[in-house]
Amino acid sequence: MEITQNIQLRSLNTFGVEAVARYFVEFADVSDIRDFVRQDLKQFNRFFILGGGSNILFTQDFDGIVLAVRNKGISTDETVGGKVMITAQAGESWDDLVNYSVGRGFGGIENLALIPGNAGSSPIQNIGAYGVEIKDVFHHLNAIMLETGEERTFHKKSCRFGYRDSIFKRELKGKALITSVTLLLQLNGPVNLRYDALKTEMERRGIANPSVAMVRDAVREVRTSKLPDPAFLGNAGSFFKNPSVSSIEFQRLVNQYPDLHYFLQEDGTCKLAAGWMIEQCGWKGKRLGDAAVHDRQALVIVNHGKATGLQILDLGKKVAESVMERFGVELEREVNVV
Ligand code: FAD
Ligand code: EPU
Repeated sequence: MEITQNIQLRSLNTFGVEAVARYFVEFADVSDIRDFVRQDLKQFNRFFILGGGSNILFTQDFDGIVLAVRNKGISTDETVGGKVMITAQAGESWDDLVNYSVGRGFGGIENLALIPGNAGSSPIQNIGAYGVEIKDVFHHLNAIMLETGEERTFHKKSCRFGYRDSIFKRELKGKALITSVTLLLQLNGPVNLRYDALKTEMERRGIANPSVAMVRDAVREVRTSKLPDPAFLGNAGSFFKNPSVSSIEFQRLVNQYPDLHYFLQEDGTCKLAAGWMIEQCGWKGKRLGDAAVHDRQALVIVNHGKATGLQILDLGKKVAESVMERFGVELEREVNVV
């Protein structure tokens, strides 16, 4: 475990923006993390936990230490009554975990295929796609508290999961380093085809009773048709969350904009499709220098090459201002700005 200095983070964030970390350390196993946190971390005045860098926007150099989580491994813990418990070390790739599970016929995370990043980051914003969120299969996680070095286990309730939200984005932001995640998956369980785009893709393929592998493959297809691959075009997925509004506010909007795109929620609130509103404001495909709104998915901001974090942030602000002006709706950023 070596602490290096003045490390360029461009290849370590999927926006591909430049930022230099004053200090940088990579952890290959949990004992390294434990020892470092208990003995060395206090020397540094600032620290930042880095996973796969797929939900981060660096807007300046980082004058502290970046803690890169790289501990790997997946294990199948036990099988009880048609359910199986699997544990992934935090530095494991999320998509490798999906493929490991699907390959063994374990159901529950096939709809979350191809989401970039680490398994250890997946609970932070309760990753979600195509009608499934990680909270649906989450059992517990282990973490090391950075202020005390104490090891803690968080079960589902204590994570306070919400839409793209958890306690790790709030009270415990930057305070708990997640070292492993344990999920409870289904053996030969039912698949979830509630999301319209996925249902349509299954119909197009003529598949009536798909296996988990078939669902994973369809999700991969739908995702790649809309979302840019960061290997070719810098981005961090959705830049904003889909905003939630009350039923009264929803009525006002739908009266004014009958073709509004939305998802009604069980609690009576309504989630609005931010991508649709951004497109209505004329931003889809618009470019300000190298920062641009993606031409196939207006909720995604992309870096055509040399955009800085501040330029991307500025474009995001302009987009949010337009949506506020036209629809009276506030967009909240999903991406973590550093
Ligand atoms: P990072 O970007 O490295 O970090 C994200 C945050 O978590 C930071 O605040 C960081 O400090 C913290 N963190 C990272 N690791 C740890 C740890 N071990 N312990 C504590 N804190 C930690 N997200 C979705 O929910 N659904 C999608 O469909 C989706 N699609 C995407 C598509 C594309 C093309 C891209 C680029 C991104 C997409 N995302 C999506 C966003 C992103 O992939 C997820 O949020 C992912 O979980 C981030 O993981 P990461 O390892 O890259 O985290
Ligand atoms: N839409 C438009 N124009 C656009 C983009 C979208 O009109 O440019 C409309 C679509 O036609 C559709 C609706 O908006 O009616 C929703 O679009 P889509 O199905 O593409 O999903 P999204 O709401 O834009 C969300 C997540 C994604 C996730 C997909 C699939 C958020 C913030 N984003 O996007 O997650 O993959 O659903 O479940 O909730 C991420 O979080 O980074 C992410 C990519």
